[in-house]
Amino acid sequence: MGYRYIGSKSKIIDTVLKKIGDIVPEGAHVTDLMTGTATVAIKLRRHGYKVTANDLMTYSYHHAISGLKFSVPPTFQMADEFISNNYRAIENIPNPTRYEMMINALNNSEPIEGYFWREFSLSGAPIKSDKPRNYFSSENAAKIDGIRANIEKLVRYDALKPNEKSLLLHDLIMGTNDVANIAGTYGHHMAELVGRAKHSLELYPSELLTGEDAEHHTVLQGYAEEVSSQISCDICYIDPPYMKRQYAANYHILETLARGDEPEAIGVSGLRPWRDQYSNFCTKTKIRDSFRSIITRMKTDNFLISYSEDGLLDIEDFVELLAPFGDVYIDEFVHKRFKSNSSKLKSQLTEYLIHLNRE
Ligand SMILES: C[S@@+](CC[C@H](N)C(=O)[O-])C[C@H]1O[C@@H](n2cnc3c(N)ncnc32)[C@H](O)[C@@H]1O
Repeated sequence: MGYRYIGSKSKIIDTVLKKIGDIVPEGAHVTDLMTGTATVAIKLRRHGYKVTANDLMTYSYHHAISGLKFSVPPTFQMADEFISNNYRAIENIPNPTRYEMMINALNNSEPIEGYFWREFSLSGAPIKSDKPRNYFSSENAAKIDGIRANIEKLVRYDALKPNEKSLLLHDLIMGTNDVANIAGTYGHHMAELVGRAKHSLELYPSELLTGEDAEHHTVLQGYAEEVSSQISCDICYIDPPYMKRQYAANYHILETLARGDEPEAIGVSGLRPWRDQYSNFCTKTKIRDSFRSIITRMKTDNFLISYSEDGLLDIEDFVELLAPFGDVYIDEFVHKRFKSNSSKLKSQLTEYLIHLNRE
């Protein structure tokens, strides 16, 4: 399954990169202000840009650190004892890297009937709900608890560098996505376990980008409206939520993995308390003020905004909002949307790239 993230730009990333390349020179400093899965930020790094990535969510922070901040492969130097106690040699990997050994050791974590098992599997008895929740098979939920406990222990004993911790949490999130019993987001689980949820959870090492450029990239976590005042760059790419669906509510389980905590899980969906990550971009009456805060605070001449005809604001609203700040140029392109046969949605969707230049 990989990552099914609402609004992910993986399908139109080349168009976004081309547009950025038309506006700023090679090696320019680009901010990806709402980085989500960090797909765009990582591609920008590959293309030689200096990147600042930010998002509200903790899981995005770990994705961005994993993609931007490694100059050399991780050695997990301080985790020797854990690796030697838990690594089991595999025939087809005769000379494993330290990273492969660490992932192998984590995959051998002893299952625990802990928080994930109790709150998110059918064998559990959630504290704040009468009915068990079917997000994971009982075996996978207990395996997640075991891996979380080991990562937590490694952190407690200072056996992981901060970037190594981010990378392992990123890998745990990616592995968890592969076996989650959900239709798209973590807003709901399926009633019966679907095929992929019956597979055993397995972590895999990520394909890491490395290089000396790592030190030039910056990863932040915070409200775009606030962090903007800390950023000075050549262009700021903004890919905001288009609709009312709050990311914090739809990806609550990934946020819990990323934070490594055990929050109260509430109601049928087992939502964590998420209002501290509420986004104004999901509320039509608040979007304009949020955009104005970003534009007035950030030091940059160019903004490039992704938006869609499905969005809460019309394209005319956008022009009216941005025009007082500079010249506005709009690129429109149509792309095929995924929809089920019964869906009444149009099969084509118009996406916009809105360029604000205020030189
Ligand atoms: C459309 S998604 C971005 C997808 C991303 N470009 C990708 O390809 O994965 C929107 C992102 O905006 C973030 N977000 C929403 N409101 C925010 C805010 N006020 N400040 C920072 N990030 C915010 C969400 O957490 C979400 O990750």
